[in-house]
Amino acid sequence: MVLSDSHTLQKTYTTTDIQTWLIAQVCEQVGIEPEEIDVQESLESYGLNSAQAMTIVSKAEQFLGFPLSPVWLWHYPTIATLSQRLAEEFTLESQAKQGSFAVDTIPKLDLSTEVVLDATISPVSAFLDAVDEPKSVFLTGGTGFLGAFLIQELLQKTAADVYCLVRAAHPEEGKKRLQQNLERYNLWQDELSDRIIPVLGDLSQPLLGLSSAQFQMLAGNIDAIYHSAALLNYVYPYSALKAANVLGTQEILRLACQFKVKPVHYVSSVAIFESANYAGKVIKEQDEFDHWEGIYLGYSQTKWVAEKLVKIARDRGLPVTIYRPPLIAGHSKTGVSNVDDFICLMLKGCVQLGSFPDIDYMLDMSPVDYVSQAIVYLSQQKESIGKAFHLQHPRPIHIREFFEWVKSLNHSIQPMPYEQWQAEVLNSVCSVDNPLYTLRPFLLEKWSDEQLTIPELYMQVRRPQISCEQTLKALAHSDISCPSIDAQLFGKYLSNLIDSGFLQVA
Ligand SMILES: NC(=O)c1ccc[n+]([C@@H]2O[C@H](COP(=O)([O-])OP(=O)(O)OC[C@H]3O[C@@H](n4cnc5c(N)ncnc54)[C@H](OP(=O)(O)O)[C@@H]3O)[C@@H](O)[C@H]2O)c1
Repeated sequence: MVLSDSHTLQKTYTTTDIQTWLIAQVCEQVGIEPEEIDVQESLESYGLNSAQAMTIVSKAEQFLGFPLSPVWLWHYPTIATLSQRLAEEFTLESQAKQGSFAVDTIPKLDLSTEVVLDATISPVSAFLDAVDEPKSVFLTGGTGFLGAFLIQELLQKTAADVYCLVRAAHPEEGKKRLQQNLERYNLWQDELSDRIIPVLGDLSQPLLGLSSAQFQMLAGNIDAIYHSAALLNYVYPYSALKAANVLGTQEILRLACQFKVKPVHYVSSVAIFESANYAGKVIKEQDEFDHWEGIYLGYSQTKWVAEKLVKIARDRGLPVTIYRPPLIAGHSKTGVSNVDDFICLMLKGCVQLGSFPDIDYMLDMSPVDYVSQAIVYLSQQKESIGKAFHLQHPRPIHIREFFEWVKSLNHSIQPMPYEQWQAEVLNSVCSVDNPLYTLRPFLLEKWSDEQLTIPELYMQVRRPQISCEQTLKALAHSDISCPSIDAQLFGKYLSNLIDSGFLQVA
């Protein structure tokens, strides 16, 4: 026991105390016995999801008596490392009465040292010409949001069979997962089913989790690769996402180079320009992206490194094309959306809370039909090889306009100055019933030397202007254009969210 400043007795916690407590919490959340826990194992390996992790964080705050950054759960990913770090912080808290964890005590990462592409990945021969009519294409991310629309577009706009990487125990389960995902977005067509072929594997494993023979056979059979899969998570650090997003991309590049050279169509993200070095600058499609300092989200960090690997492969002679979407919104005609994405969760959370943050933020989003159509069309143009494209909305809207449309449906929702809104989230959002709860680390965590939250770092003044001029030019001869974000489109999104039961408005 130690004597606190207020001369009341305060309990001390050792690493062992905290470890024992954490083991009990993990067991309670995922329903396993303490004997099944290995404190050196990653917490992720117990299948802890974001909501369960946030519950442990909340309880830890009560247990230890000080605010705890959820990000630590991922920066110290095992029970052993986390317990040790929490015990150290507990001592510091007791001694110095510090108010909260500072993110800058998290181990620093030099992303430039992560940009290393296996030297053996190099095209086996010169790439002579694009295959005009591919017989087989390989797609990753087919069980995801964009992936579903890419499958549909590839089935419509090519005659190719679409081999889809999918995590499943057997081919029937793999096919079922792909079918269920297409059905979720109203895209399933029985008559095209035979052209969708599951390839069981895992992006985060060497050779995509395939045997060497399977990998070779796939490499020999396919004519092009569309790499859309990634682990999207706003809380995990770089280390937790690296295997899928960075090393997985390396395996895709390996596949492209083996047996015969195949073009790679890589879905990147505008998040690669999150470094403060780009603030206020106009970024064109073919501009370099050397700055990584000040990219804070682990996800964005992995996208930056992965695209750098793709670029190295391009410099070694692999034909690659890069597509950088902004936030991907629902379908512009049907309104069907990904209810797990940031836009939908934020919308639902703010409606439940009755307020939204009044910040200077341009909502840079493009409907999924525009993104998928543009990718497939551009991938079929020979001039696209070696280039990058920005699938930005040419006329993004301000977030205030977005919430004004929500207000027209639910008059009680009000704008609130950002700091006041943060306090409201901290005080009133106390359970996973409100989606803002799982977004708390993203919304409340303070990053950077200036101690800003991610939404503050994304404010207009800190962002680059991402130009899509060359992309629009490349699409000019197609019938593809980005639908306006207006009250009509927003009405479609809202109707879909309300009809599906996701959103309740007064
Ligand atoms: N959504 C956006 O707003 C946005 C914005 C910019 C860029 N992007 C990029 O667009 C791409 C697609 O995003 P999305 O919104 O469609 O994401 P999503 O809905 O979360 O889908 C992710 C896909 O990746 C797959 N995946 C993840 N880890 C895997 C692994 N280890 N092995 C095999 N497959 C794995 C998932 O498979 P399971 O079903 O098995 O999990 C799923 O099919 C990503 O590259 C993302 O970075 C998205």
